[in-house]
Amino acid sequence: MPIFEEKAQIVQFPKFLDERGNLSVVESQKQVPFRFRRCYWIYDVPGGELRGSHAFKNQHEVIVALSGSFDAVIHDGKEEKRYSLSRSYYGLYLPPMHYRTLDNFSTNSLALVISSTPYEEDDYIWERDEFCRMKSAWTPTPLQYAPEAASAKSPDSVCVGAPDIGAVKAATIDDCVLMTLPRHSERSGSLTSLENSKEIPFDVKRIFYLYDIPGGENRGGHAHKECHQMLVAASGAVLRPACPARSLGRRTELLFGLHLPGADLARV
Ligand code: TYD
Repeated sequence: MPIFEEKAQIVQFPKFLDERGNLSVVESQKQVPFRFRRCYWIYDVPGGELRGSHAFKNQHEVIVALSGSFDAVIHDGKEEKRYSLSRSYYGLYLPPMHYRTLDNFSTNSLALVISSTPYEEDDYIWERDEFCRMKSAWTPTPLQYAPEAASAKSPDSVCVGAPDIGAVKAATIDDCVLMTLPRHSERSGSLTSLENSKEIPFDVKRIFYLYDIPGGENRGGHAHKECHQMLVAASGAVLRPACPARSLGRRTELLFGLHLPGADLARV
């Protein structure tokens, strides 16, 4: 993993082009220096609305314009910088304690945020003055940047649920389940969040997405021996969080996310 300075920075993700469209991927602790715990996406933002306007005490995040464009205005406690995001193969990495506002959303834009923490209201700092005061007295926790964090085998670095690979390989079509995903709607747009072991029944190691797919093309057409996937039509892009393996309990809710427990032939 590259050395990451503790500052806001643009990170380039791999981009795989072919005549069936484009695919980009970001892997936990690879292109970004944190382990994925949650991803959410912001959509249907009316023109002129803002999102964010807060900092996080502990959350690392990477923000991607999956579709359309928007700006991220970042304050590090001393100075402010505006990043224009409009390409889905670039992410804006933000360490904790950066005040951020998202604005200037284009029509039909889609902002993907991948986060290192579960959703915790207490992690938010809403007031900019309070943030600047806290930032001036803040020292980063060395652990957050320790190189061994990248390779450490911690208990939650494996997938949740019984790791019964035999059972997963015997999964049938009934184990591929459409799941309800939450939608938090307000005047400034909508947000849907997937958290490891919660809405998503495995530990996400990788998120890849398909975009600019010409009409009539197919993607996929293969099976994975061990990889669980959750397929989401987040908008024009198909978002596909994946993990290397393991099992899940049966879920019966309907809508939005299609969980494939591995060993399934998928074509989209
Ligand atoms: P918020 O973080 O304020 O959105 P933004 O920073 O984009 O303006 O969250 C908006 C709503 O969504 C809020 O009611 C809490 C809910 N929410 C979750 O339930 N889980 C999540 O992971 C996130 C990010 C938000």
